[in-house]
Amino acid sequence: MKGIILAGGEGSRLYPLTLSISKQLLPVYDKPMIYYPLSVLMLGGIKDILIISDKDNIKNFRNLFKNGSMFGIKIQYKIQPKPEGIAQALVLGKNFIKNDPVCLILGDNIFYGSDLVKNLKLAISNSNKYASLFAYQVSNPSSYGVVKYNSKNIPIKIIEKPKKHIGNYAITGIYFYPKGVADIAKKIKKSKRGEFEITSINNYYLKTKKIKIIKLSRGFAWLDTGTHENLNEASSFIYTIEKRQGLKIACLEEIALNNNFININKLIKNIKKIKGNSSYIQYLKKIINNVV
Ligand code: TTP
Repeated sequence: MKGIILAGGEGSRLYPLTLSISKQLLPVYDKPMIYYPLSVLMLGGIKDILIISDKDNIKNFRNLFKNGSMFGIKIQYKIQPKPEGIAQALVLGKNFIKNDPVCLILGDNIFYGSDLVKNLKLAISNSNKYASLFAYQVSNPSSYGVVKYNSKNIPIKIIEKPKKHIGNYAITGIYFYPKGVADIAKKIKKSKRGEFEITSINNYYLKTKKIKIIKLSRGFAWLDTGTHENLNEASSFIYTIEKRQGLKIACLEEIALNNNFININKLIKNIKKIKGNSSYIQYLKKIINNVV
């Protein structure tokens, strides 16, 4: 399975924070936002990853992760010339995806909770035949794509930002597709608001009965970081959990080590290259000394 992180966009709701830098490079407590979606792909065991962003920011992502070898993964980069919709990522990623299934994740989405890896593995195991989406109960469904269920609790349609209340289950920003999705993405037309909507692709799989919608439980946290308030809440959330447990969320080196993408010697070598002694570095040193 390939992985794509979509990390462009206007970030207009975060003005002026995003005037000169991509939203996905802003801090969420102790690390850049994009660490969180990258950690999700790595937790799913995905090692072949494409980061898509705008022309001005792509070099910043490249500076951050290089070719990914420090985490034992392979990262490539692609420019989205204009932010014309989430579905465009699948068209831009066509040559990268080739004939494989793919997981697309938005660069501003944070997933945290005990069933995450189980659900990722489930979606990945479905992907030889089915698309999979994660749905999550929210208090403000009109801001998202929302699943409409029939009386038998079978999903019948996904409606983008519904004006009328049709349910509380929002489709989160992680999407798994079987091979061939780029060709489907190529055929969809722009919506009234002028975007290539990921909801159009999801409804294609829903209509053809080739989709599994996995509900994330209420004990799970799905956060997005699109407004000042959301960004601040996400930082506080990460701070609170990390402080309480003494464990870091989305520590990429730790995940790489646990998944055997790198060994301890590689981590020791990597740390030697890093300057300073931030709490993140101290955490890496604890991992090496086996005291986490
Ligand atoms: P949005 O939050 O819908 O849009 P945005 O990031 O441009 O922000 P704003 O609404 O404040 O202007 O985007 C969701 C995620 O998808 C985010 O990580 C950015 C990314 N994205 C792209 O990279 N390209 C696109 O064309 C779109 C629509 C979104």
